[in-house]
Amino acid sequence: MKSSSSAPVTIRVGAPIGVADPRLFGSFVEHLGRGVYGGIYEPGHGSATPEGFRGDVLDLVRELGVTVVRYPGGNFVSGYDWRDGIGPRASRPRRLDLAWKSIETNQFGTDEFAAWCRAAGVEPMLAVNLGLGDVKSALELLEYTNHPHGTSLADERAANGAPEPYDVRVWCLGNELDGPWQLGHRSAQEYAELAATTASAMRMFDPDLELVAVGSSNADMETFGTWEATVLTRTIELVDYLSCHIYFYDDGDLAAFLRSADALDQFLERIAATIEHVRTVTRSTRDVKISLDEWNVWNYRDYDDIKAEREFEVAPRLLEQTYTHADAVVVGTLLQSILRHADSVSIAALAQLVNAIGAIRAEPDAPAWRQTIFHPFAAVARSAGHTVLATTSAGDISTAATVSPDGAEARLYLANRSLDSPAALEIDLSGIGAETVISAHLLHDDDPGATNTVDAPDRVAPRPLDAELVRGRVVVLLPPLSWADITVACRPNRG
Ligand code: AHR
Repeated sequence: MKSSSSAPVTIRVGAPIGVADPRLFGSFVEHLGRGVYGGIYEPGHGSATPEGFRGDVLDLVRELGVTVVRYPGGNFVSGYDWRDGIGPRASRPRRLDLAWKSIETNQFGTDEFAAWCRAAGVEPMLAVNLGLGDVKSALELLEYTNHPHGTSLADERAANGAPEPYDVRVWCLGNELDGPWQLGHRSAQEYAELAATTASAMRMFDPDLELVAVGSSNADMETFGTWEATVLTRTIELVDYLSCHIYFYDDGDLAAFLRSADALDQFLERIAATIEHVRTVTRSTRDVKISLDEWNVWNYRDYDDIKAEREFEVAPRLLEQTYTHADAVVVGTLLQSILRHADSVSIAALAQLVNAIGAIRAEPDAPAWRQTIFHPFAAVARSAGHTVLATTSAGDISTAATVSPDGAEARLYLANRSLDSPAALEIDLSGIGAETVISAHLLHDDDPGATNTVDAPDRVAPRPLDAELVRGRVVVLLPPLSWADITVACRPNRG
């Protein structure tokens, strides 16, 4: 490690950017690999609840601080008939899942998901199938979940054990229909019409639903930009959010991978600019926000392996990426980027929650454990509902700051992305009456490739960090490739 002989970098904390909507700390459960079966649901596991939910996973979900969970896909939803997943389990059909070359047993469906959300204390966010599905099926799902009683669908839900409606507020109008890999892939114009028809019909049931139109599957899509403009021009008066997805991976250039958040900044700013452009040309006053409803580190080069020689199987081990310390630093900086865009992004979902590119890992014979990326997420989720303050970032230093609604507590999230130099930082909190450091934690490992495993589940975990408050400034030294969260008590300015 080089020594930090250079002068400390001063980080300034300035004006409010926006409020961190609690839904920024969402996640995603898809019928993919062992995300559901062997992930959140495993009736035979030692920790299983009476409903068959893994209790150890539920505990970690609560600790992670997840607020909202998107379900049931993902690519899966574009071939899914929600009716297959309700009613007596013994008569639910086994189906091929073409998206993930799997067999879907349908032992877990909409009712189980709603019950799991209640157990986990999270809000459900459902996607309707606009791939091979249709508007009628979407409306029937909506009636099944949200109508109180007195229709056959609502009464069917009651007969299936849920007399009270689930009252799901946020609905995704399909998934990644811009992608040629998607069942039911469409042109932007075709999707725009379908989304508009579906949204209008859903609003006839409940005008206050929060609807999410499909945006781009990633920043490299050829249609990125034109897709958003086309879809939103047709749907701007009918939807509340425009979705977008993005994944990052290390293609061998670790330093470049560590700058992933710069690309996320640009992606979000371009989408926000496109929304603003559509508002201008349509003369709309509608405040459409971004739903970043899939984001993470994912080495999606293994995606093609899914399609390779493999039989259709129940809950195969797919996308079980073991995250490294470097991945955790990147996820921490992506969370900083999400906070810095709190003015335009209102929903974000870490994709995914368990096993398949999950923050939590679960094996049949062992307690579930926290992947490295769990830690920055859990730290930043504590800022739900806080006001995000503008901060300066420079070079390898990436930052974000929030302050609680009563002004009594500030949180700093700091990353040193350098691979060889420590960073001495002074964060100037004099403008918000900083009084004392309450806690400070560091995520650091000398090995960027360090992982958490069933045998060493806490190898990469937050450890106490020395941080002092000197004349309104937090003074701290971050080792190379590290990420920190610091909580500071403040004297709110009541004047
Ligand atoms: O999260 C994994 C997959 O990534 C989702 O199913 C799909 O929407 C995206 O391509």
